[in-house]
Amino acid sequence: MKKLRYILGVETSCDETSAAVIKDNTVCANIISSQEIHAQYGGVVPELASRAHIRLIVPIVDNALKKAEIGKNQLDGIAVTYGPGLVGALLVGLNFSKGMAQALGIPFIGINHMEGHIYGNFLTNPEINFPHLSLVVSGGHTMLVLMRQHLEYQLIGETRDDAVGEAFDKGAKMLGLGYPGGPVIDKLAVEGQPDFHKFPRAYLKGNNYEFSYSGLKTALLVYLKSKSKDFIERNLAHICSSYQQAAVEVLVKKTIRAAREYNVKSIGVVGGVAANSLLRQWLQKEASRINQSLFLPDFAYCTDNAAMIARAGSQRLNAGERSRQNLNAYPALRLGEKKS
Ligand code: KG4
Ligand code: ZN
Repeated sequence: MKKLRYILGVETSCDETSAAVIKDNTVCANIISSQEIHAQYGGVVPELASRAHIRLIVPIVDNALKKAEIGKNQLDGIAVTYGPGLVGALLVGLNFSKGMAQALGIPFIGINHMEGHIYGNFLTNPEINFPHLSLVVSGGHTMLVLMRQHLEYQLIGETRDDAVGEAFDKGAKMLGLGYPGGPVIDKLAVEGQPDFHKFPRAYLKGNNYEFSYSGLKTALLVYLKSKSKDFIERNLAHICSSYQQAAVEVLVKKTIRAAREYNVKSIGVVGGVAANSLLRQWLQKEASRINQSLFLPDFAYCTDNAAMIARAGSQRLNAGERSRQNLNAYPALRLGEKKS
């Protein structure tokens, strides 16, 4: 089978419109446009996201091709996110990609967004070896995934309620810090004391790989209600640091325990929350302690981007997989679940 070299990636599952071109799994262009409009609402407004994607998709794809210095006729295949995500947002990228693939007479493949995040790590670290344990942490997901080989996923554990990114975003909202909350809390926490207040660590003692973040959020709400505005303002950095410490400790401890139990050869952290500096440092320290290699994607491939989708697409397309022209968008698509 002829190797498909130039892959266009398209990502429109939430509030980033992104297009990327990779050649032989190396990134030539990765254009990301974050929709600023949602900040004033403290979260993503689905209808506004779809409309912005419609406006942006053509110029962003043109931009990616221009940056990669190739014409569209040089593309060998297209990879596009078809779930999970906001259905109206997903449909923009999916329908655009179907049309383009049809017009160019090249194959296209629908990619699971979470699989994309996992494969984003292979862009930065092509040497990742199996069995590989991936901690997937984003605004919508918190899970531990075991990969014994390419494209094969075993879910070890996941959150029972909120995702850790959601805990960061909602926590930041309660503190009046705006959206998205993760980067702001991360930055403020650097100046604070992590043991200023003891927030709960859910399921830390249990012998399982489940997570829960709704209790942490509630604990912050109760704590803030018990304090004056002045106290909160004066101790903002300490509160952020303590909150972040609780959120991250559970992630680090469970990941290390799973790495030992499943005897893996490498650990990865992916998704938007993989950009968190405490998580990166802490996990690095714990991984070296047990002689494990920890692989982290470059910041550009942590939050939503199309290069990761193109990389996962390349893996599937070059394994001979194709999606049909009537492929639908699936807002609640699970990792490893297959829709044709
Ligand atoms: O993967 P992503 O871009 O979108 C989803 O698929 O959800 O992740 C976005 C999430 C948001 O919740 C955001 O607050 C969080 O990633 N995030 C961070 C940091 N940067 C982004 N959380 C903690 N620390 C950060 N530095
Ligand atoms: Zn994501």
